Amino acid sequence: MPEDPLVTTRILFVCLGNICRSPTAEGVFRALSGDADVEVDSAGTSNWHVGGPPDKRATEEAARRGVDLSGLRARQAVPEDFERFDLIVAMDHSNAAKLETIRPSDNSTPVALFLSYRSEPGPVEVPDPYYEDNFPEVFDMLEEASRGLLSRIRNGQELAQ
Ligand code: 4NP
Repeated sequence: MPEDPLVTTRILFVCLGNICRSPTAEGVFRALSGDADVEVDSAGTSNWHVGGPPDKRATEEAARRGVDLSGLRARQAVPEDFERFDLIVAMDHSNAAKLETIRPSDNSTPVALFLSYRSEPGPVEVPDPYYEDNFPEVFDMLEEASRGLLSRIRNGQELAQ
């Protein structure tokens, strides 16, 4: 029997500005993904920081943990993202609701809350470190959720929670 061909899983991480939470999620997830066949990107629901680099505090916290965010640039989520990605991962309920307003009418790509993939029960919204300045705590949350989502992919489980 021929083996199943490897199928690339495409994941988009989304927050409000695409300069704190989602670029960190993108960088952490990519760093942890190892030999998993995944493609990742991130975007914001706003256009406030389009073209700009991640927040310096996010870049510095990631660098302390061995994750390089320096090449990332912010962009705004667009309807075509629902066609390009297998899973869209929102950082909070507000991001998820905003995404629904640009979903193409015939599209059923799942939108999931990232923290729902953590193995321990807890809050499902990533607090916004842009205002709260809690970058180390947010990094830990994003790393836990990345490990949970990666284990689902590696085990061939459903992507959506
Ligand atoms: P993010 O954080 O959504 O995690 O990138 C924010 C970044 C910028 C702003 C708000 C949140 N802002 O108001 O400019």
